[in-house]
Amino acid sequence: MHIGLLTGGGDCPGLNAVIRAVTLALLEAGVSRVTGIERGFLGLIERRAQPLDEPRVRDLLAEGGTVLGTHNRADPFHYFGAGGADVSGDALAFAQSLGLDLLVAIGGDGTMTIAERFGRLGLPVIGVPKTIDNDIVGNERSFGFDSAVAVVADALNRLQTTARSHGRVMLLETMGRHAGWIALEGGIAGGADAILIPERGFTLEQLATHCERRIAAQGYALVCLAEGMQLPELPRQLQGDAFDGRLTLAGAGLPLQAALQARWGAAIEVRYSLLGHLQRGGAPSSFDRVLSTRFGVAAARAVLAGERQRMVALRGDRIVSVPLDEVAGVSRPVPADHELLAVASAVGQLPG
Ligand code: F6P
Repeated sequence: MHIGLLTGGGDCPGLNAVIRAVTLALLEAGVSRVTGIERGFLGLIERRAQPLDEPRVRDLLAEGGTVLGTHNRADPFHYFGAGGADVSGDALAFAQSLGLDLLVAIGGDGTMTIAERFGRLGLPVIGVPKTIDNDIVGNERSFGFDSAVAVVADALNRLQTTARSHGRVMLLETMGRHAGWIALEGGIAGGADAILIPERGFTLEQLATHCERRIAAQGYALVCLAEGMQLPELPRQLQGDAFDGRLTLAGAGLPLQAALQARWGAAIEVRYSLLGHLQRGGAPSSFDRVLSTRFGVAAARAVLAGERQRMVALRGDRIVSVPLDEVAGVSRPVPADHELLAVASAVGQLPG
């Protein structure tokens, strides 16, 4: 058997640990070759691949990023390098010329959507869910998320000491796209006074009043906001990319800072920090190293057991697999009845 492996979408801590686990588990089980496709589906289009063996992967457990490289726009069905043309036939021909029997695709919702479609062309796929956003359907926790939450919590703790010293309102913006998982868990872990996520509506008035109460009580306020959040008073004009319409969500906190500052004038200073890609870089947490290794081994087992067109996933404390077509094209917001929302509300972190 000859297995291909690629990492697609934005990078995240734990990708290398999955590459390591898939490769070691497959080779240990007698698979003759594992080949890494470089930069996600772009490697299939541009014909770039490299052999993966034990010396190449053994030391990768704690390394951030992905040694195979990645790309979050390389869609063979709509290729940016050819004016949006469908080059999936060429990509499949390259995979066939390598002699691949199956492709392990490690990525987020975009990668799973492409992988599911690519699998239907004739190269079977096993998916592994990756994203700091934690928003992949069918999977309760993706690797990378825990590491990102730790960065948010650390940033909030740092902001708290300067907020307290100056008696300011500090806004910290997290990633997460249209899901509020990072802001919610990061905000709870970092003790934010207010957590703002896209799934839960609130008004500027409610937020301002909430902050004013915290200032009256403790002299400052710490706000953790998700990049995808919306306020009715501050509608966002999001610009889609000219090629594929992909929205850039970063920057949600800037108009919020301006609106709060306008309300309070010189009485309360408001500052805004954008955490950005710091949430994606660096070494994976211990939790993510373990989850990545579990996912990688589960993907190798799924390959060997003859599973096809499925994605490994975490359900409770068990690793299962789910059909890829149930995952493709959808995402997983924070449900309104999620326990963490009740928890955050109970300790006064949700305005409104
Ligand atoms: O999906 C992961 C993610 O980090 C999102 O949270 C964020 O909106 C986006 O990727 C940023 O993408 P880019 O790296 O292209 O700026």
